[in-house]
Amino acid sequence: MLLSDKAKQLVEEKYKDNHKDRLEHIYGVVEMATYLAEKYNVDIEKAKIAAYMHDYSKYDDFDTAALYLDDKDIKECEKYPFLFHAYLSAEAYIRLLGSDMDIYNAIRYHVFGREKMSMLEAIIMIADYTEKNRKYKECIETRKILLEGNFNLAIYKSLENTINHCKEKGEEAHPMQLLVFEEYKRKIQNLSKIDLIIDAISKVKAHDIIIYDSKYKNPFYDNIIIASVDSKKQATAAISYVYDRLKENNYLIRNTEGYDTEWVLIDMYDVILSIFTNDERKHFELEKIYMEYPKKEIKI
Ligand SMILES: [Fe+2]
Ligand SMILES: [Fe+2]
Repeated sequence: MLLSDKAKQLVEEKYKDNHKDRLEHIYGVVEMATYLAEKYNVDIEKAKIAAYMHDYSKYDDFDTAALYLDDKDIKECEKYPFLFHAYLSAEAYIRLLGSDMDIYNAIRYHVFGREKMSMLEAIIMIADYTEKNRKYKECIETRKILLEGNFNLAIYKSLENTINHCKEKGEEAHPMQLLVFEEYKRKIQNLSKIDLIIDAISKVKAHDIIIYDSKYKNPFYDNIIIASVDSKKQATAAISYVYDRLKENNYLIRNTEGYDTEWVLIDMYDVILSIFTNDERKHFELEKIYMEYPKKEIKI
């Protein structure tokens, strides 16, 4: 039996009699998280497990938190009580299902994320906010942004909404929530097109990145970028990441080639990006063609 089936069984047993609406919400989060994991090349099984378990402790008696949380967590949760269920659900995952830290963190930080969160963490957080049973206007708007491919913008908007909501209620937003908000604000603003491309391909663990300045040597492109990835799947996933990142910032893509092959090419008018698998890059040795071009090597 898959662990995700076991997770499904656990929440169904827990909620089938008393909290059917919570179960519907959980199914909605699983559906959205699965869709996003597929789109952004994240492990679908992990996304399902985290989505099923994220609200497992939603109605637990928080007085028993001392059994599972340390003093620091308890103090924090006393100040921000909505964190109890997230922290306890993460502990329940470890107790009942597995020990994957990415899944654990995705559950623990699903309320508003944390700085530099993984893609799985970000997916669970935004799936929770935008799943189809959420009927608030802000959630529906954010879902639309997300489904249009603007992943970071959707996270930014969800945080903006929840922070505003806190203000309206006269409550203090959690300091981490504000930091994540600032991080995503930086992500969607003030980045050059090249920065955006590098940021996007960092998500598929691109390496050996070289940016050539081709303005004076090539009539078609100002910059030519070459990068390597370890698999064909990562090369293909890079297309979505670059597309979304540029779209969020109103840049256009002219053409992409090489979907599901060892050499993906993305033409962004003044910049062209080639992403190779390691062997393919050795085979073509484009570096030899651009030997004379000024270049910058990027480490991420
Ligand atoms: Fe939750
Ligand atoms: Fe939830």
